[in-house]
Amino acid sequence: MTESAPIDPTATDAWKQLEGIASGFTPDLRGWFADDADRAATYTFQAADLTVDLSKNLVTEQILTHLLALAEDAGVAERYQAMISGQHINVTEDRAVLHTALRRPAAGTPGADTLDPAAGFVVDGADIDAEVHGTLDKVFAFADKVRSGEWVGVTGKRIETVVNIGIGGSDLGPVMVYEALKPYVQEGLEARFVSNIDPSDIYEKTADLDPETTLFIVASKTFGTLETLTNARLARQWLWERLGASGAIPADDSPAGDEARTAAVAKHFVAVSTALDKVAAFGIDPENAFGFWDWVGGRYSVDSAIGTSVAIAIGPDGFREFLAGFHAIDEHMRTTPLERNVPVLMGLLNVWYTNFLGAQSHAVLPYAQYLHRFPAYLQQLTMESNGKRVRWDGSPVTTDTGEIFWGEPGTNGQHAFYQLIHQGTRLIPADFIAVANPAHPLKDDTGDGNAVQPGADVHALFLANFFAQTKALAFGKTADEVRAEGTAEAVVPARVFPGNRPTTSILAPALTPSVVGQLIALYEHIVFTEGTIWGIDSFDQWGVELGKQLALEIAPAVDGDAAALASQDSSTKALIARYLELRGE
Ligand code: F6P
Repeated sequence: MTESAPIDPTATDAWKQLEGIASGFTPDLRGWFADDADRAATYTFQAADLTVDLSKNLVTEQILTHLLALAEDAGVAERYQAMISGQHINVTEDRAVLHTALRRPAAGTPGADTLDPAAGFVVDGADIDAEVHGTLDKVFAFADKVRSGEWVGVTGKRIETVVNIGIGGSDLGPVMVYEALKPYVQEGLEARFVSNIDPSDIYEKTADLDPETTLFIVASKTFGTLETLTNARLARQWLWERLGASGAIPADDSPAGDEARTAAVAKHFVAVSTALDKVAAFGIDPENAFGFWDWVGGRYSVDSAIGTSVAIAIGPDGFREFLAGFHAIDEHMRTTPLERNVPVLMGLLNVWYTNFLGAQSHAVLPYAQYLHRFPAYLQQLTMESNGKRVRWDGSPVTTDTGEIFWGEPGTNGQHAFYQLIHQGTRLIPADFIAVANPAHPLKDDTGDGNAVQPGADVHALFLANFFAQTKALAFGKTADEVRAEGTAEAVVPARVFPGNRPTTSILAPALTPSVVGQLIALYEHIVFTEGTIWGIDSFDQWGVELGKQLALEIAPAVDGDAAALASQDSSTKALIARYLELRGE
């Protein structure tokens, strides 16, 4: 273990002070704003292109002072430095944690001068920069070949659809970023994403595809994940069957047929993995495999070769810009004092809400339809990282950890669950994310002749909701204000908005590849900050193992093996028996 024992945050003076403030805490955003004309300016920060307004959070100078002291006590800045310089802060797997190295600019390229000269960069005997940039070059060369049409399928046709097969970090990152950057996708190219072992997923995603123009990317860090390998085999089966059925390759078992099938895999399958031996065993030419390293966690890997589908879709230049966005936030995190350090401040506020004000969950509400998969992406990043009950020295945590992250794009969420955020009994801190310049600045030519004027900018209408929601959540509506609208007294309580519902507003110029990279890095470092305060290893994920192991053990029973069924507990046995009955087996 290279990590020193974590501090017990609850034993610090800062924690005790915060507990004191929290008992009987009566937030008053209306009053705080009325008393301090500078509140918005004081609590608005810039991190690269992201303008982050924290002023509508339930925070005062005094609270912030203690939260910052907590960050000092826990050594957030020092541990970040330890992480980026390659120390094995992933203690339970005895690994370095170097996702920040994936976006270090190559020497001599723009941004390289921002690198911390102290941070090396040989780690555990490996020249990290050389390995990262060697792999990126290989991914980019391949992406260029697919984009230009130089890479063709087994029948000589150019690739039109890229299907990424992966799950967890090998899926959520690529699909989220692909969706976020749709306007940057090269015309004539499409990416699809298969993740679930439910056969409906691969069936639906391939049903209308032409095998001659389809390329599969099998993305799996371990190349041992049941879902991904099963789907990869189904994809290979689909390719062979479809090519055989159309006469593109021989469909029989002759040597010529075997040879054609091998050639088809070589042209229609590539892989991304840290286990290149297993890739070869699957039949994918190691020449067509892109590596990465055990020092990248799956949920931190979209900026590695795991993003190959994105690199193909938006091109190497776009991907470089994406990486530069991450790096800009990494540099902000590394060089900005804690009191202006946006990921640190946001992480500390989450600790405040979770550990002192009893919040259980955290909403992420992008006002950008292209970010519609961002909340799902963040669920893995935050909950797989910080859903832990022991600390990195094996001792039990001393306070609650993790938050339940969830969300949907605005304005859809407004018409679904915002009621509970506005008037429910739970405290739900929420992050609102918007961009100023939309990809499609449409005008409503006719308007509705009422609230919407002819020629109205629809994006302005959209963002009016972004601004209105955080205002309503912060300041609410008092009973007197409700009465002043002429509301019948009996209905007044139902129409009161209590306010003091905390929000953070994040505003970016546009949803560029760089901004998407910035947003991801921002949340990575928020997770890091919280994990450091709680003393947990945010980079392992042992909690997903038991279910995987049991699924393999139970599989024979579900497939009808009587002895395997008999050995199950009574509930599982009865459920499987009913399943078999429903299947008529
Ligand atoms: O089951 C969890 C997990 O290990 C994630 O952490 C990871 O992103 C996912 O499975 C997929 O793993 P792999 O890339 O090795 O297939």
